Amino acid sequence: MSHRYAELAFTPAVRAVQEHYGSRRDNQRLEHEFGPNDELDSREIAFIGQRDSFYLASVGQTGWPYVQHRGGPPGFLKVLDPRHLAFADFRGNKQYISVGNLAGNDRVALFLMDYPKRLRLKILGRLRMQDLSDADPAQVDALRPYPYHAAIERIALLTVEAFDWNCSQHITRRYTEAQVREVMAPLQARIAQLEQQLAQRDTPSDTPTS
Ligand SMILES: Cc1cc2nc3c(=O)[nH]c(=O)nc-3n(C[C@H](O)[C@H](O)[C@H](O)COP(=O)(O)O)c2cc1C
Repeated sequence: MSHRYAELAFTPAVRAVQEHYGSRRDNQRLEHEFGPNDELDSREIAFIGQRDSFYLASVGQTGWPYVQHRGGPPGFLKVLDPRHLAFADFRGNKQYISVGNLAGNDRVALFLMDYPKRLRLKILGRLRMQDLSDADPAQVDALRPYPYHAAIERIALLTVEAFDWNCSQHITRRYTEAQVREVMAPLQARIAQLEQQLAQRDTPSDTPTS
């Protein structure tokens, strides 16, 4: 078996460094005994379905990497099938750096984080942008996040080449506003209940007699 992510990421230079630092043998095991990691399975599909953002790296004509953020409501990055993802690309700052980069090189890396669970998924793929005028309206509708107010400029169609999971080391747990609100709700209810009890205790119930 060959591990597709290792095949793409373990270049001769990377292998030489692994040799230098003594990790080549473990990485060789990864290459031959794990994988193939070229098609998303139920674990990756469920993970992607819960994400409300990801980082997108592309390569410019100058050879420099470029990383941008893509965000939306949870599930805005859709899994069409185990090798294809898609999302609606919203109007932004009109620099169109990712879009321009993709015109010359369709290779991208996606980085998806689950901060509370301290998980991250890396995906390598080829991304094609399709202007709305060229896109199938039914597909645009299927990718339109709801309820969400953003102007869709194009749709992005990704063919997955490989994926890999990272370990949880050095990931600090972070929570969204909605997650904090959910955890706080029972505490706030309890505070309100106790405040009410205190208020009742402090209210004199009987008029003192002389
Ligand atoms: C009004 C507006 C201003 C923005 N300014 C910036 C900015 O200064 N820097 C940045 O990284 N993203 C900014 N963004 C977000 C990007 O425009 C957005 O992520 C966009 O999709 C980037 O496209 P690109 O990846 O093709 O470059 C802005 C978005 C809006 C709507």
